[in-house]
Amino acid sequence: MIAITGASGHLGKATLNFLLAKTNPSSLVAVARDTEKVADLAAKGVTVRQGDYTDRTSLVAAFAGVDTLVLISSAVLGDERIRQHTNVINAAKEAGVKHIFYTSAPNPSLTAHFTPAIDHFQTENLINESGLAYTFFRNNLYLDILPGVLGEAPQSGKLYFPAGDGKVSFVLRTDIAEGLANALLSEGHENKIYEIGSPESYSFSDIAAALSQSGKSVDYIDIPNSAYEAELQKHLPAHYAKMYAGMAEGVKQGDFDVPDATLENLLGRQPVTLTDFLKNLS
Ligand SMILES: NC(=O)c1ccc[n+]([C@@H]2O[C@H](COP(=O)([O-])OP(=O)(O)OC[C@H]3O[C@@H](n4cnc5c(N)ncnc54)[C@H](OP(=O)(O)O)[C@@H]3O)[C@@H](O)[C@H]2O)c1
Repeated sequence: MIAITGASGHLGKATLNFLLAKTNPSSLVAVARDTEKVADLAAKGVTVRQGDYTDRTSLVAAFAGVDTLVLISSAVLGDERIRQHTNVINAAKEAGVKHIFYTSAPNPSLTAHFTPAIDHFQTENLINESGLAYTFFRNNLYLDILPGVLGEAPQSGKLYFPAGDGKVSFVLRTDIAEGLANALLSEGHENKIYEIGSPESYSFSDIAAALSQSGKSVDYIDIPNSAYEAELQKHLPAHYAKMYAGMAEGVKQGDFDVPDATLENLLGRQPVTLTDFLKNLS
């Protein structure tokens, strides 16, 4: 049996829907902290179980009979995220899970500018130490977050962002879900680290050029990171402002410039490109 945590979220639910198109629902388990949010999956025949990352006992019960588990990384950050992921990994071991797929990020490291990549580094280590087979999906930045990053740029013609010439191998979240479903239904992914992104990386100048092709002319203006963080702090709690400013610095330093054909191979087609994504926005 295959279980997916975070089944109520975008990636978890989309992965289960891709799996449903190719396999029997009786082999699928959707784990959610609020099972009402996955009633649609239950209606399609998927087994739904309650499991909260903060409650190890609930997770052990949720993983009963499961061979392969997808741990969708928690939405919280820092020590609390590590506590939650530790609960999931320990519960998986206790319940007899054999293989964990984990949604990580490119270049996880204790010194990453992008703070979630610090948690991913620690979680990958915990999974390694558990002795369970693993597959790390180091998901690049979602194309889906790009409209939030762009803000008013398509209308104003000015794209302010502190990324220098840094590039990102952006990827559509539903492409990750489809690739993940295909990996879950095929052999040979034990103890592998996959860079999940586009075969080509894009700079913010490329993004401005792509926007200019589909609408108003847009200029990219590289700004100091401190100015960007100060602006974010006007709209977001300080830790989120720090995370997004760190993400931008990570982009500038090349941490997200990881072009790779793995996802293309898993999909058997080209992933959605930045240009196509931006065209469909307008
Ligand atoms: N690469 C990127 O650009 C990018 C962008 C955003 C996030 N991410 C990471 O990738 C993950 C998956 O992305 P996504 O788009 O699917 O995020 P999402 O839609 O926010 O889904 C997160 C899932 O985690 C579940 N969850 C959170 N805390 C939980 C807990 N204590 N116990 C059990 N489940 C819990 C949520 O449940 P509820 O529905 O109950 O809240 C939800 O199902 C995110 O959680 C985040 O770590 C990556």
